[in-house]
Amino acid sequence: MKKIAVFASGNGSNFQVIAEQFQVELVFSDHRDAYVLERAQNLAVPSFAFELKEFADKVAYEQAIVTLLQERAIDLVVLAGYMKIVGPTLLSAYEGRIINIHPAYLPEFPGAHGIQDAWEAGVTESGVTVHWVDAGVDTGQVIKQVRVPRLPDDSLETFEARIHEAEYELYPAVIKELLAE
Ligand code: GRF
Repeated sequence: MKKIAVFASGNGSNFQVIAEQFQVELVFSDHRDAYVLERAQNLAVPSFAFELKEFADKVAYEQAIVTLLQERAIDLVVLAGYMKIVGPTLLSAYEGRIINIHPAYLPEFPGAHGIQDAWEAGVTESGVTVHWVDAGVDTGQVIKQVRVPRLPDDSLETFEARIHEAEYELYPAVIKELLAE
């Protein structure tokens, strides 16, 4: 059975949905006070947190992450709201084994504010994308994506909620497929 690790920087609602459907070997957060760590505790998923600023540089930080992943024989790294760019140290150790979810229909609206950017652009539809992680920001090969409409009476909040609902469907579906391969 392939072993999965989930990386999250904050809230962790995607982690929660994933952990309710799959065995998650570990959660990693780059913030020691992230709410995802509380969710992990409630779900009895082992969690680890350390911050970039605690290391000499990003290479050392990512080397610590790679060691953690290797010690636990992780096969698939699932980024779910992990707000750091994956650097060459982690990427070269896990190339082709890291996936990310982005709250827009890539290549539309990459970056940290995919929902807000789509909203401000006045689109009539946006979406959600799961993709392989490469050295760029939201540039890796798309695995699966779905469209999400923006409805005429949407507020940013209702639009955002609909995007998140689509994430909670799409990410487990992709993970299920990858675990079956
Ligand atoms: C999600 O919208 C995800 O697409 C983006 O960051 C958000 C994380 O939310 N990359 P959560 O931490 O899973 O609640």
